[in-house]
Amino acid sequence: MQTNHRIVIGNANQLTAVADQSIDLVVTSPPYPMIQMWDDIFCAADPAIKQMLQSSNVDDAFEAMHRLLDNTWKELRRVVKPGGIVCINIGDATRTIGGRFRLFGNHARIIAAFRELGLDQLPVIIWRKTTNAPNKFMGSGMYPPGAYVTLEHEYILIFRLGDMREFISPEQKQNRRESAYFWEERNIWFSDVWFDLIGTRQATNNNNKSRDRSAAYPFELPYRLIQMFSVKGDVVLDPFLGTGTTMLAAMAGGRHSIGYEIDQNFQSVILEKIAGLPKLANQVLTNRLEQHEKFIQERINKEKEIKHRNQYHLFPVVTRQEAELSFDWVEQIQFSGNDQVKVIYTKQAAAPAPLPDGPAKPPKKQSRKNQKPQQLEMF
Ligand SMILES: C[S@@+](CC[C@H](N)C(=O)[O-])C[C@H]1O[C@@H](n2cnc3c(N)ncnc32)[C@H](O)[C@@H]1O
Repeated sequence: MQTNHRIVIGNANQLTAVADQSIDLVVTSPPYPMIQMWDDIFCAADPAIKQMLQSSNVDDAFEAMHRLLDNTWKELRRVVKPGGIVCINIGDATRTIGGRFRLFGNHARIIAAFRELGLDQLPVIIWRKTTNAPNKFMGSGMYPPGAYVTLEHEYILIFRLGDMREFISPEQKQNRRESAYFWEERNIWFSDVWFDLIGTRQATNNNNKSRDRSAAYPFELPYRLIQMFSVKGDVVLDPFLGTGTTMLAAMAGGRHSIGYEIDQNFQSVILEKIAGLPKLANQVLTNRLEQHEKFIQERINKEKEIKHRNQYHLFPVVTRQEAELSFDWVEQIQFSGNDQVKVIYTKQAAAPAPLPDGPAKPPKKQSRKNQKPQQLEMF
């Protein structure tokens, strides 16, 4: 199996490199309106915003920043396939302007934009962050009523375009079965509060040519969303690529990807991260297998019945839907110029030793261990 990836240095208000209805999943985090670190980007795109902020015209500034993002949301409506899913990580903003402290509800404004575009909203995920922000206690301290609640969460908004996607051909159905995740992963990933991601605000290593902080989300965030809402060989888009975290997660998950980033300085950061992909991706898979092994061992210890067995890895699994789940290990990366990358995978890498038999029963079907998955091409 191989996947293709493309980095476009350009403005996401026009996704000209992306064809109509060609994207299965969008995972992204835009610049956040009314958060100071993004003022320059919004003001550069629309100089009137600077004047609005200087004259404390906050409602107009907030709306003007969102109108810039609306251009990208409109493009997503064009490029996403029917049944495709859009996941947007966004935080609200608090800010004092003209002496008045206020909350700016970015997540609500984006929900309204997608409703206008005709996408259906699905249940949101609250990403609960542990923060040591210095403004944790804002306002009048211990004296009521002027202290403010601290924002310690962000949203992952999820939208779908049209009806639920269908898997019709035997190949599509097979690929979907192989793209399954573990039962115990589902129980954590599909919870509406994610506690366990570390919200690292990473320093970039590009000689201060760009912003000193990248606002990157943790790898686990796009990785989970990609596993949850796409299948192997799908095309994932991130219109606000930043350091390329979504692209790395797509590569690790056997999905194609395309990303837009306006800041040229991020290109070298992204390429550097991609160079470290084999180690990262294979560590992610090893961790998933080890976690599963631990989980199953605990169930066996508790004498809980486990009826099914995975055909590739030969260990017990809880449900029949996990029987054909298979991992693709990154074998090789091929760079083509500064903007295109091919990732080649293998099924042959060593997996942890099979678990002791316990109460699990072997599957009836023949092992598909040596069968090659379909070749998928993009671009
Ligand atoms: C919140 S950061 C995304 C961080 C990314 N998720 C990561 O993990 O590194 C938003 C990114 O969007 C980029 N950006 C802002 N406006 C843009 C535009 N109009 N088109 C493309 N990229 C843009 C910024 O330079 C920034 O890197």
